[in-house]
Amino acid sequence: MDSLKKLFEPKTIALVGVSKDPNKMSHWLIRNVAEVGFQGSVYPISPSGGEILKYKTYPSLSALPEPVDLVLVSVASKSVKDVIEEASKNKAGTAVILSSGFGEINDEAGKALEKEILRIARETSMRIMGPNCLGIYNAHKNLNGTYFAIKPAFKGNISVVSQSGAYGGVLVNEMNARGIGLGKFASIGNQMDIRHQEVIEYLGDDEETKVIGLFVEGIKDGPQFLSVIKRVSKIKPIVIFKGGRTTVGLRAAASHTGSMAGDFAIAQSAFKQAGALVAHTTEDFFDYLFALALNHHRLPKDDKLAIMTISGGPCVTASDYCEEIGLVVPQLSDTTREKIRKYIPFFAADSNPVDMTVGTPPENLGPCVDVVLADPDISGAISINWGWDVREFAQAFVDAASKHGKPILAFVSENPTVQKIFHENGILNLPAPERASRAYWGLVEYKKIRERKEIEKKFNSMPSKRLDGLITGDTSILDEHLSKEILKDYGIPVCKEVVVNSIAELATKAREIGYPVVLKVLSNNILHKTEKGGVLLNVREESELINGAAELKRRFPDNISFLIQEYVSPGIEIILGAKRDNTFGFGPVIAFGLGGVFTEVLKDVSLRVSPLSWSDALEMIREIKGYPLLRGYRGKPSVDEDMLAEVILRVSELAMLNDRILEMDINPLILNGPDIKAVDALIVLGEAVRTKDPLKKG
Ligand SMILES: Nc1ncnc2c1ncn2[C@@H]1O[C@H](COP(=O)(O)OP(=O)(O)OP(=O)(O)O)[C@@H](O)[C@H]1O
Ligand SMILES: [Mg+2]
Repeated sequence: MDSLKKLFEPKTIALVGVSKDPNKMSHWLIRNVAEVGFQGSVYPISPSGGEILKYKTYPSLSALPEPVDLVLVSVASKSVKDVIEEASKNKAGTAVILSSGFGEINDEAGKALEKEILRIARETSMRIMGPNCLGIYNAHKNLNGTYFAIKPAFKGNISVVSQSGAYGGVLVNEMNARGIGLGKFASIGNQMDIRHQEVIEYLGDDEETKVIGLFVEGIKDGPQFLSVIKRVSKIKPIVIFKGGRTTVGLRAAASHTGSMAGDFAIAQSAFKQAGALVAHTTEDFFDYLFALALNHHRLPKDDKLAIMTISGGPCVTASDYCEEIGLVVPQLSDTTREKIRKYIPFFAADSNPVDMTVGTPPENLGPCVDVVLADPDISGAISINWGWDVREFAQAFVDAASKHGKPILAFVSENPTVQKIFHENGILNLPAPERASRAYWGLVEYKKIRERKEIEKKFNSMPSKRLDGLITGDTSILDEHLSKEILKDYGIPVCKEVVVNSIAELATKAREIGYPVVLKVLSNNILHKTEKGGVLLNVREESELINGAAELKRRFPDNISFLIQEYVSPGIEIILGAKRDNTFGFGPVIAFGLGGVFTEVLKDVSLRVSPLSWSDALEMIREIKGYPLLRGYRGKPSVDEDMLAEVILRVSELAMLNDRILEMDINPLILNGPDIKAVDALIVLGEAVRTKDPLKKG
């Protein structure tokens, strides 16, 4: 942590590779350091001598009079190693390598150079940020060690860690335009040494930071990253925006889970599970950050809000949208309605949304807003005003927000006076009614994250003995029956079934199972049996069974076995699967969603990283779009969510205990009210790849 203190709060800075040419980025670096009035010592290194801006230059790092806290390195990549060697002789605390041309261009030489530089730095415990980054910024210590072309105009409590430097520039522009202040900014580039998680920990303990924003491309050591998010998100909000919607993870996969759980979706779900607020667009990213920065001390207690306006149209849009995204705009209580009637004209709407109309005398706006925000059923408000620029309107919301400690966001336009008062008093104004609603949702969501209590449930199973000695090649696919035997060992309910190797035995076995039965071709070479005509459902009698078997023999002339199963009455078909994530090193990722033969079309799945808590499992069930189906529809009974959550946890335990399972699917798991049964399953084995320390990577 001390080393990051030197990074964010250095007392002495050396700059290597600064130019006198004002058009060069390396000149912007020293100009930025100089312009914000950094208080400590600044040592530019320049072999040609003289002064740059107001600073005396030194010929080399070894010529400096003292060890420095921070070295900003802006030389060509080929010279960086020598600079780091000198910095380490100087006993420098940290170095930020802004230069590009390393591992990011995906060439072996660049990666080898990073490794070599890291080795040098480790010898003196110097820490390194970058390479390939935009630098380091701390408004509270007048530090601007970045290539920022435009300076942040305001000092604030939002701190941002961005892998992409350019995204930092976009953020600063937006903050300047919307009058929001930046606290600290770290552009961590290739994360050769300092990774996201370490900076997040630092910012978690930092008094001046109230909200943390992360622009993430890749992460290193996924489990560690998640555990830091989990801890820090209970203290302050972390908003994540993930770049790079790569489809690398979507290689041709044997299982449905394998083909649906791409890297991007896995990362998003894992961040959410750990407690981050996940932004899906740049707008959401900024809006969540800004709303939280201004309202972190007055988060809404629940999802019920008032929409208060003098402009009908936008307020209907806001309230429709609120409902769509899961916020509640409740009817006001009779007492509250009675109270506000005194202040508004007879044609105004006293329900929620409250449309006070421009007919309300300005002096009545204050008392009216106060009454609504005082209502214990209302946790905050969205204020909407198009074109009635009276000071009283603004003051009403400013006063109510601070008096009742409830958040208020606004969509106010064409109102310079109101906008100015809102800005000066920390009421965030958003450029559209939907964006105000969405930002409010962000506040509610963070409140839930903070209060979320994890309930754990474990079954204490052991690794499966059935898998011993099963691997023959790189991957091997287990047939439906063996896959289900393994599920059964872990307490997952499966349908009654029996393997039959000869037509002669069929009739007896089917009678044992009991008609109607299902007859399937059984082979680990035949995936997606339905497409190939390998599944006969609802076989009601012996003659049908024998004819069916003969037909299957014709379709699959190779030596096959049959599987006879009980016919489970039609119900809701669910897919429940697992996939080992090797991209981020998360390990098993569990997928739950609407299943059956249309799984890939519906793509209605939720994902979580193992281990799952009981609460995670319940959330997975409740967040799919098809959830209302599970609650009972058209006279069907609702499913037993607790039992279903338990099956999810058992699958997670199975996947965690057997690290040779690359992918597995139960598709479908048929739900009939409280009845749960797996009728098809598939397990794919292979060698698990583990992520290693970057220094040790081969
Ligand atoms: N025992 C059963 N009882 C009732 N319905 C069943 C049973 N087995 C299969 N089904 C129905 O038949 C469909 C296809 O069966 P199954 O999932 O075994 O074949 P599949 O085509 O190989 O599936 P996948 O595409 O997942 O590989 C299921 O989605 C389900 O609707
Ligand atoms: Mg299936």
